Amino acid sequence: MSQITSSPPRRRGLPYIGRTLDYVRNPQTMMRSQYDGWGPVSDIDFLGKRWTVLLGPDACGAALRNADKAFANKDGWGYLVGPFFDRGLMLLDFEEHHRHRRIMQSAFTRERLEGYTATLQPAVESGLARWQPDTRFRAYPALKELTLDLATEVFMGGADLASADELERVNQAFIDCVQAATSLVRFNVPGTRWGRAMRGRKFLEEFFGRHLAAKRNDPGDDLFSVLCQLETDDGERFSDEDIVSHMIFLLMAAHDTSTITVSTVMQHLGQHPEWQERCRAEALALPLHPTLADLGELVDIDLVMKESLRLVPPVPVVARKTVKDTEVLGHHIPADRLVAVMVHLSHHMDEVWPDPSAFDPERFADSRREDKAHRHAWEPFGGGVHKCLGMFFAGAEIKSILVHLLRQYSWSVEPGYVAPMSYLSLPFPKDGQPVHLTRR
Ligand code: HEM
Repeated sequence: MSQITSSPPRRRGLPYIGRTLDYVRNPQTMMRSQYDGWGPVSDIDFLGKRWTVLLGPDACGAALRNADKAFANKDGWGYLVGPFFDRGLMLLDFEEHHRHRRIMQSAFTRERLEGYTATLQPAVESGLARWQPDTRFRAYPALKELTLDLATEVFMGGADLASADELERVNQAFIDCVQAATSLVRFNVPGTRWGRAMRGRKFLEEFFGRHLAAKRNDPGDDLFSVLCQLETDDGERFSDEDIVSHMIFLLMAAHDTSTITVSTVMQHLGQHPEWQERCRAEALALPLHPTLADLGELVDIDLVMKESLRLVPPVPVVARKTVKDTEVLGHHIPADRLVAVMVHLSHHMDEVWPDPSAFDPERFADSRREDKAHRHAWEPFGGGVHKCLGMFFAGAEIKSILVHLLRQYSWSVEPGYVAPMSYLSLPFPKDGQPVHLTRR
């Protein structure tokens, strides 16, 4: 360990609540003022606990690389969403995490992704065809419904698994689980977000548990079936309880993150018609049902996706808890401390990015590569051993939606529109993100 110099400075706020409300109101302003006033490593009160906050690419990178294995996920994420996403891959640590990740990786090989991408195409095409164009079409809820349908196809093997009513309950249970993250009441009290999330988890366990035997006995190509069949060379498999926990986490991990990314892209392509036309030209040049390889050839759509992930990272903060004393940038962090790795700010620092608030996809072009300014400048998918396992699936899904969307529709958004974001859980536009949508 390098030389320890000092404890992080502590910014005091209201008892219990601390800086929670500042974060929920506007995380970027809160993070910037914390960084400017207290530096890259500081302490705050947040949701009833003391947290060490890491800001800027150096501090965030140190925790994500986790060289001395001081930062653990289970009790970090566990404090925010533990009871609902318990034993999901992201909430496992060290050897156990390594073992589960090795098994799960076989569900995300190139060959598997090619299969999932093929399943996606007709589902995306028909899902989008059902949209009803409007001058104030609410893009976000429509995309959320679409990505849930896609998850039903690719992850669970299609709507045959359950009735529309039951799938709606699955969706609501996920929403309840995700929304509990920033709940100030953190006990199972009826009528609270926390209480609803506990019931949501129970419903999801029962739902996946009920369908498990069928997936084991008569597997398809969907992710649920794949998880039931996976076996490493040394014969390791997931137990029934593991599969249920992994499914619940995977659906959550895949759902809101992809939805907000496409929603951000729609906003910016609606405000930058020249980029919309460039992307549409690329989309029209592809076969009707593009393969994973076809999607990998997209240039402009890829730039736009990366820039949207920079502007609105779907996971603005990742959580950790120290399992031993450690040090970041000369600050001592004691064992048992909750740590917030606030990657969102790294995406918006003018120390790292020229004109960071501008939508400028070409900053990711080979000729510029502004993301190379720092190894941890752009980290929407995290880093280190917990780096998003679904990153390539996410890219394939987001690009598939964009390709079909650009072919079927044109849209515009008021040039001055700024999405009113909610940060109560993962970010989403509170107004549903209206666009003027027309069929082509
Ligand atoms: C734009 C879409 C997505 C974004 C921005 C995103 C972001 C992230 C981030 C930041 C982490 C790391 C959390 C940490 O370090 O604590 C993560 C982990 C994870 N993500 Fe994603 N994700 C996306 C889509 C997906 C999809 C589609 C799947 C599954 C199909 C997925 C599965 C996972 C899994 C399994 C982990 C845990 C990895 C581990 O702990 O080893 N993600 N994701």
